[in-house]
Amino acid sequence: MDSACSDQNSIHIPVLKKEVLSYLKITTDGIYLDGTVGLGGHAQAVLAALSDKGRLIGLDSDAEALKRCHVRLSHASSYHLFHDSYRNFPAHLKSLGIREVDGMILDLGLSSLQLDSPQRGFSYRQEGPLDMRFDVTSPLTAEAIINGWNERDLVRILYEYGEERRAKRIVNSIIAKRGHAPVRTTLDLRRIIADVTPERYLTKTLSRVFQALRIAVNHELESLQQFLASFSSGLKLGGRIVVISYHSLEDRMVKTKFRRLQKGCICPPSLPQCRCGKKPEFKILTRKVIRPQEDEIAENRRARSARLRAAEKTG
Ligand SMILES: C[S@@+](CC[C@H](N)C(=O)[O-])C[C@H]1O[C@@H](n2cnc3c(N)ncnc32)[C@H](O)[C@@H]1O
Repeated sequence: MDSACSDQNSIHIPVLKKEVLSYLKITTDGIYLDGTVGLGGHAQAVLAALSDKGRLIGLDSDAEALKRCHVRLSHASSYHLFHDSYRNFPAHLKSLGIREVDGMILDLGLSSLQLDSPQRGFSYRQEGPLDMRFDVTSPLTAEAIINGWNERDLVRILYEYGEERRAKRIVNSIIAKRGHAPVRTTLDLRRIIADVTPERYLTKTLSRVFQALRIAVNHELESLQQFLASFSSGLKLGGRIVVISYHSLEDRMVKTKFRRLQKGCICPPSLPQCRCGKKPEFKILTRKVIRPQEDEIAENRRARSARLRAAEKTG
């Protein structure tokens, strides 16, 4: 369930790159928004397909990733990077005097740089603080959640975001331990989970619990929800959106939104004629979700849970 964008050695490999470029159907003088620009893997590929007149706007919550992205893209002149959540993209387009773009991409989840940096606290494999913030200036950390949230809310996030069926047991164990001393590190949490989890389920359980915490810390579903409600207004007619998600909840949100945008009249069938006047606004380009091929997964194991959906603005 981990999502990431590189191989085990932290060499950056953007997920489903060929498919992203193909679905974006880049026009060489176009303007493109990468809402999760990260280490610039997809952005670099988009820029390579653009002429001098084309532009790329990249956003990321992680300032460290943006620094590296700058270095990676420094050969190109036509890009702008912003340290912000993609949910706030309209303000940044406005600051550049851009009303609409030709294409948008979101590659959700976390990067290998984040996962492989122990001090960021995303990994249960290495000792680090229980942090998990994409944006290290934001106030909520995983430590605050683990030590401060009540039983009901902890169970809810483990159950909803982690799809962890044994959430209650794990939370009871956390609450018992934090009664003696605060849970401070990734390996402290790992030990607490290991105490109440059969060995054969441990890796999957750790993945689920850490993923659930990360989603809660970074308000990931709320950001996606807000973006899905507003992206259409920033996209030109004929413009395309491509979203790669790594979690079934995110994929479902994208699928549901695209279907709604593709749908025309939503009047009850009992009405003799349409009263709502709703017209299709988008055409779905991926009738079935796109998954990485086996050779991509063999090269980049972290691509295995990626799911890509794309749509074109038609009205
Ligand atoms: C899978 S990586 C993207 C990798 C990128 N496509 C590349 O090829 O280098 C996901 C990135 O999304 C960023 N991110 C997650 N939530 C975000 C949000 N709400 N707004 C902006 N960036 C976000 C993370 O910090 C991370 O750098």
